Amino acid sequence: MKFKTKFSEYQAVTTDDGYITLHSGHFDENCHSTAGALEETLYNYVEGCSVLERAQASNITILEIGLGVGLGILATFESTKEIANKIKFITTEIDPELANWVISQASIGKHISNLEKNKEFISFNLSENFQVKVLLGDARETIKKLDLEDIKIDCIFQDAFSPTKNPTLWTKEWFRNLRSLCNKDSVMTTYSASVKIRKAMLEAGFIVTNMKGFGNKRNATRAYTLESYRDEKLEKELIRSKTPAFSDKDI
Ligand SMILES: C[S@@+](CC[C@H](N)C(=O)[O-])C[C@H]1O[C@@H](n2cnc3c(N)ncnc32)[C@H](O)[C@@H]1O
Repeated sequence: MKFKTKFSEYQAVTTDDGYITLHSGHFDENCHSTAGALEETLYNYVEGCSVLERAQASNITILEIGLGVGLGILATFESTKEIANKIKFITTEIDPELANWVISQASIGKHISNLEKNKEFISFNLSENFQVKVLLGDARETIKKLDLEDIKIDCIFQDAFSPTKNPTLWTKEWFRNLRSLCNKDSVMTTYSASVKIRKAMLEAGFIVTNMKGFGNKRNATRAYTLESYRDEKLEKELIRSKTPAFSDKDI
């Protein structure tokens, strides 16, 4: 299956767990690992950010960077259905037509109520307790609205395309913006484990730790705001490394 929007061409790719991901012509990259799109999302983000444990303890707000095919929403919704607390899932998407395609798919579409759409966002409920807001446009701009509304984030799914293909969403300036949206005990996970990206997170004020990567990827990254998670050994290695933090001036 293929489709075209004003922004990009998309080609469906079936991954090893049977779930479909999309190849974006604009970014020339798949949204997920071919080793399993849903499994990767569950592993890196839902489990990586301990979403279940956090949602069992209190209402939570999740920020996803990159809506893609909507698997972040679906994986989180399906995993938290039994939980009584409220989950606010905020996601970001530069291609509004892709966002509309996602909500037209049965897997998400069949649960939707309270749908509201305008140029800036699409919002809806998947259940009484699970609310979704898709911020439309460049996330570098749209997340500023969260700051204005004083929204604080508990879990960040940092799931942009790779730093090479999608550089503006990986710099220390970007991570500084994300850090300012966090509360005292927030967590952010990502599939990237590169030194320049970890250093960008560190210089933006995150506590950076290692997480085992999905599939045959050796490492991924889990970052926190709470000091008690500090991995001094890793932090010293990062500071000692000659590789500079990735920054806006490198783009
Ligand atoms: C790797 S995919 C995300 C996959 C998604 N989390 C999922 O589970 O299906 C990255 C997404 O980020 C979007 N994106 C890229 N640059 C963006 C930007 N500057 N602002 C907002 N979205 C962006 C892309 O269009 C794409 O949909």
